[in-house]
Amino acid sequence: MHEHAIHPVSPEWAAKAKIDAETYALKYRASIDDPDSFWLGEAQRLDWMQQPTKIKNTSFDRDDFRIKWFEDGTLNLATNCLDRHLEKRGQDVAIIWEPDHPDTPNRIITYDQLYKDVCRFANTLKADGVKKGDRVTIYLPMVPEAAVAMLACARIGAVHSIVFAGFSPDALAQRINDCDSQIVLTADEGLRGGKKVPLKANVDAACEKANVRTVIMLRHTGADVPMVEGRDVDWHDAIEPHNAECPPAEMNAEDPLFILYTSGSTGQPKGVLHTTGGYALWASMTHEYVFDYRPGEVYWCAADIGWVTGHSYVVYGPLANGATTLMFEGVPNYPDFSRFWQVVDKYKVEQFYTAPTALRALMREGDEWVKKTSRKSLRILGSVGEPINPEAWDWYYNVVGDGRCPIADTWWQTETGGHMIAPLPGAHSLKPGAAAFPLFGVQPALVDPTDGHIVEGATEGALVILDSWPGQMRTVYGDHDRFIQTYFTQYPGKYFTGDGARRDEDGYYWITGRIDDVINVSGHRMGTAEVESALVEHPCVAEAAVVGMPHDVKGQGIYAFVTTTATTDNSEELRKELVQWVRKEIGPIATPDVVQFAPGLPKTRSGKIMRRILRKIAENDTGNLGDISTLADPGVVDDLLANSPHAK
Ligand code: WT7
Repeated sequence: MHEHAIHPVSPEWAAKAKIDAETYALKYRASIDDPDSFWLGEAQRLDWMQQPTKIKNTSFDRDDFRIKWFEDGTLNLATNCLDRHLEKRGQDVAIIWEPDHPDTPNRIITYDQLYKDVCRFANTLKADGVKKGDRVTIYLPMVPEAAVAMLACARIGAVHSIVFAGFSPDALAQRINDCDSQIVLTADEGLRGGKKVPLKANVDAACEKANVRTVIMLRHTGADVPMVEGRDVDWHDAIEPHNAECPPAEMNAEDPLFILYTSGSTGQPKGVLHTTGGYALWASMTHEYVFDYRPGEVYWCAADIGWVTGHSYVVYGPLANGATTLMFEGVPNYPDFSRFWQVVDKYKVEQFYTAPTALRALMREGDEWVKKTSRKSLRILGSVGEPINPEAWDWYYNVVGDGRCPIADTWWQTETGGHMIAPLPGAHSLKPGAAAFPLFGVQPALVDPTDGHIVEGATEGALVILDSWPGQMRTVYGDHDRFIQTYFTQYPGKYFTGDGARRDEDGYYWITGRIDDVINVSGHRMGTAEVESALVEHPCVAEAAVVGMPHDVKGQGIYAFVTTTATTDNSEELRKELVQWVRKEIGPIATPDVVQFAPGLPKTRSGKIMRRILRKIAENDTGNLGDISTLADPGVVDDLLANSPHAK
């Protein structure tokens, strides 16, 4: 069907991997046939204060809806990531921190040291009045203190809500308010690719719209920033009086661990809530099996802690497994395009995990940047965040991995807590571009989007998951109805992922991308409605419709159709201003790639925007627009076509 080679499991991998083909088949069957004993067994990877006796208690039926895992077990995730490693591995490196610029000193933090830092910061939070269940907003750059803050929250049972340090003050304020968090942890400035990000100034602006009691600020770049008396405190002053022993809170497996906001198909981001036991198990298990991780190996996930990948695969999964996790502050192209591979060589990284968008950006610069580094240490390469096109897959495999390293294309979501569909390096032949097979306990299925019935065999459809898995989100913070509505209503009794997928004749899953109103920009999720509401906030904008467009590097770009008010002059200046406006309202990741002025949008007689047409224009696939006879004014389409940048 395509010319890209299939890569069978090498004999060496089959012999040495933690999971070979036979083990995968046996374990997968067991996980479905007898989930209670399978998951009680897997739960032993964690240290429990109280062993669970009730394992799986879940139903996706509307009338009997429940998702509970290990509900009578108690544990603490910070203990699992720290205390239990101290005896054997206290002197082992927990975190390697590599700064933005290679000439800045790095930091090497052992488990002993991390334990102390976490306890001290946990005591600091307690002294500020933070109690079990309270929400703590974290708006920090990629520095070890971010991991310290997460684990300190976990230690005392506070619920962290990390806001990506590239989000605007408005986006930050909205997230602080939604979960009513009284405390914000930040830094003076962030640093990425040599550019400074004014984090403290952003927090100050956000605090004008939010009710914040305390801001703890880490000095990172040393910028001179104003401090608000009675509210702001310097991180080092704050921790100074506290000691490095803090007893862990005993948490029920179903107690909340964190909230992470993610975009959906409406204007308001959703607070995805994960709980303690099931999430911990999922992050740890998937990290071990998918990356074939063994203690002592240096593992690097290049994601930011502001995204779920950073939660599960920079911090919780690796640390629960006693791993050495590399935390990178910088970007792939600074100071030059060799940066990733130089860092791999510097620390002898064995597992490397990044997003296709980074690979596509590096691929364009030529192979020399890669070839001049050794990369001998690499054993396995991971991909996450968006479909990886077979060209980028082949480049990753042949150029970065020198044809030696299996690629784990991991499909999952903020909602799933960790990997769901991914090839296991010792078990599955690899097909470039396929996420391959479900992990233990995951039951994917394809449904016909028109009537929701399950379709079998080699076919395409909407991707659903038939039953719960331990790492599943439990609710949308503060809005359980929205949780049910978003994920369990379209196809009743099934979890709807929002993605489309194809299953081939060998049973491999190929994720084709979002089929809802979400676009995936550089592996980051953006709701079209969010960008639209930012645009209509502008005084010159009457109406806006946003769709995704193909983009060589980002995967998808943002294409905005904008109708301005009657008195507005649709100038080039205004177009630029609107682009800046969205950046300021949401953050640089939401920057529109195209703004097209449109005197009218294609609407049905009932006023619904026909997005199908806008998508086709954005994709420059205008040969067949389909039936437009139900439009209130079919004439608007001619104008849209004539003024599309593709037409010029
Ligand atoms: C959406 C989830 C998963 C952590 C980072 C993104 C897309 C993710 C893959 C993949 C194809 C992928 C899906 C999914 N996606 N991984 N390997 N192949 N698509 O998390 O922001 O919650 O986005 O990212 O469309 O629904 P997220």
